[in-house]
Amino acid sequence: MTDASSFSRRLITWQKHAGRHDLPWQKTRDPYRIWLSEIMLQQTQVTTVIPYYARFLATFPDLPTLAAAPIERVIEHWAGLGYYARARNLHRCAQQLVADNAGIWPDNAAALGELPGIGASTAAAIAAFAFGRRSAILDGNVKRVLCRHFAIDEFPGKAAVERKLWALAEALLPAAEIEAYTQGLMDLGATLCTRSRPRCQDCPLSETCLARAAGRQAELPVSRPRATIPERRSSFVLISDGQRILLERRPPSGLWGGLLVPPEGSVNQVLARLGLHLQSAQALPPLRHAFTHFRLTLEPVLCRVDPCPAAGEAGAVWLDLARAADAGVPTAIRKLLMRVASATG
Ligand code: ADE
Repeated sequence: MTDASSFSRRLITWQKHAGRHDLPWQKTRDPYRIWLSEIMLQQTQVTTVIPYYARFLATFPDLPTLAAAPIERVIEHWAGLGYYARARNLHRCAQQLVADNAGIWPDNAAALGELPGIGASTAAAIAAFAFGRRSAILDGNVKRVLCRHFAIDEFPGKAAVERKLWALAEALLPAAEIEAYTQGLMDLGATLCTRSRPRCQDCPLSETCLARAAGRQAELPVSRPRATIPERRSSFVLISDGQRILLERRPPSGLWGGLLVPPEGSVNQVLARLGLHLQSAQALPPLRHAFTHFRLTLEPVLCRVDPCPAAGEAGAVWLDLARAADAGVPTAIRKLLMRVASATG
């Protein structure tokens, strides 16, 4: 069990001697500059942000200048950073603060979080860095640190797990030195507790890290659960004369591209397409086959037609049912043909 004060104490001490201290948005308490950095850093790495940040501030040095600028100029300064909704929200946020709040920043995370483009974690970072507020951050890096340190065994994107992580982040907050603590969490996630090959030997939290104790750093945090595999069903018309079965070559792209497969579709569709007349039809039991990205239930209907088309007619290829097991057809179709062989044999 880690006590909260030991966790934060070790992190703060480490941040002071081994953390980052010379980033352009450090050593200021100007909420405008801190806000800008946090928005730019939301989906973008520090090294990419640095030159954009300098250019942006050279053109828009303060909130009123940004609020008065045309959106096109703001977007121009964002070009290359991606996620342009960030630039639009940035501009809206500046205009809103100037119009409704005399250009004054709210000084707490709850109120900051109401502004355009400022989510809960960004609001907390601004509140901590600009106003020394004791507020918890929880971005992707912090989630990774917490999931590892506390061996949280569920996908952190799940709402219930996220609530638990927020509660944990709140409970771990130090009584003082929130700035070094917040920066320490960011620095640890970015430099030591990285997604792959974490540098546990240099980590101030390694003694109490449950993932490390169990050697589970690579497994945690748990990745997003695989989406459920879609289910498809399709009918296949098995036209047989009792000894042979009619196959068609599939179009080059798509499922079974270029391979020989019985005609797909309802009996009526297929017979109309091939210009054949039904003599008798018998539904066979469905067959389920798993592909990588979906599962297909094949619904076979065994048909006799009159007259039987000759090979080559209507694109038909006749395959001897006795050879179905080793024919060069897809696995699901081979299983189907073997059933026909036993149904007719
Ligand atoms: N990522 C998000 N906020 C950051 C900050 N203030 N410093 C470094 N990286 C960050």
